[in-house]
Amino acid sequence: MSEQNNGFKSTKEIIKMNEGERAKVRGWIYRKRGLADNIFIVIRDSEGIIQTVLARKNSPQNIVSLAEKANIESSVVVEGIVKSDERAPGGKEIQIENLSVIGFSDDFPIKGGESIDYLLDIRHLWLRSRKLTAVMKIRQSILEGMREYFKKSNWWEVNPPILTQSAVEGGATLFEVNFFGKKAYLSQSAQFYLEVMIFSLERVWAITPSFRAEKSRTRRHLYEYYHLEGEAAWMDMKDMMSHVEGLVKSAIKKVLDDRLEELEIVKRNVNILENSLKTSFPEVTYDDAIEKLRRKGINLKWGDDIGADEEKVLTEYYETPFFLTMFPKHLKSFYMKIDDSRPELVYGFDLEAPEGYGEVVGGSQREDSYEKLYKRIIEEGLNPNDYQWYLDLRKYGSVPHSGYGLGVDRLVTWIAGLDHIRDSIPFPRFRERIYP
Ligand code: 4AD
Ligand code: MG
Repeated sequence: MSEQNNGFKSTKEIIKMNEGERAKVRGWIYRKRGLADNIFIVIRDSEGIIQTVLARKNSPQNIVSLAEKANIESSVVVEGIVKSDERAPGGKEIQIENLSVIGFSDDFPIKGGESIDYLLDIRHLWLRSRKLTAVMKIRQSILEGMREYFKKSNWWEVNPPILTQSAVEGGATLFEVNFFGKKAYLSQSAQFYLEVMIFSLERVWAITPSFRAEKSRTRRHLYEYYHLEGEAAWMDMKDMMSHVEGLVKSAIKKVLDDRLEELEIVKRNVNILENSLKTSFPEVTYDDAIEKLRRKGINLKWGDDIGADEEKVLTEYYETPFFLTMFPKHLKSFYMKIDDSRPELVYGFDLEAPEGYGEVVGGSQREDSYEKLYKRIIEEGLNPNDYQWYLDLRKYGSVPHSGYGLGVDRLVTWIAGLDHIRDSIPFPRFRERIYP
């Protein structure tokens, strides 16, 4: 059975209708202006806005008073005749013949110019804004673009758990949970579960919430974020980098194909997005990055971490996303594969977004030798008993393999050109508020 509209047209459909046709639309009052002869009511629905006009003189008194009484954000049904009008958004308007109010609205607390803190307190209402609506649509197209890419490349989607027993990305950012009197943790990454799954499915991916008890509050950290992770047998670091490049390009392309209107609403300059599709993403090694940073007056010693501030400076060298690769092993997690020709390095890669955004993907080739992985676990002061099943994977037909995690919210933040990650997701979690 197909979805029924009961004769209603969306705002977008009405804009495509001809003058003189009859239309029925439902939505919320977005703007209202009462003049001597007419009352202008702009209605919004999930697709856009349409202007409707009530002529006071030719309309029944009960409808005129309803129109006067109905505040911004009241839900309404309007029926009338489509007219062309250059001044109306989209060039069409509806001359109201019938109006009913489904739900009256109290005085709507958002009028423009409110502080971010205040708006976060009423996030459940703020989400009706045109900007956030546009971002949510861009977000869905990004996910759609990536899903299509996985399908085309024959990857399997799997559903790993959130409650876990041990850390993937170190103890410092773990959220602890009381699991029937035993300690458990909220997942930081599904990576180890995906590694299990490649031994049957070879190429797997998942999208799950990941949790990080981050110490600092920044524009690019959430405590709960959407993590898209992939893992594949038989792929080395370079293979996985090309896959990630294809994946991210597929997301960008989908947005450029389907969401130009929304990109305009969020005032995104699309040149950078378009250029990103035209070239292959450059690679800079950690060694080169240290040198490039030096040339910009940032003097890191070899072995220092390249953090958010340094990433931002590095992005000045690039107009498209770029890879940062081959890190000192002490900066990265124990599971990354060591480069035998330079044992101080690991086969790790990050994908950095340009324009100062920085890291959106973190990945690596994985250590596939039992002995070497065991040694790294000991070196890092971890307990091998906690990783017994993970070590097992190297005992029963180990294979070279690689994987990555992509911060969906960070990718949305960059593609939509947002200045803060909180607006990439409907209900951001902060230390100060788990609300609404
Ligand atoms: O670089 P990270 O920590 O890598 C991992 O978790 C690997 N185990 C993933 C894997 O190989 N399967 O996190 C991966 C990505 C980062 O590049 C970033 O985009 C995002 O997750 N991320 C966050 N996004 C929002 N808020 C946070 N607090 C984030 N922490 C990481
Ligand atoms: Mg990382």
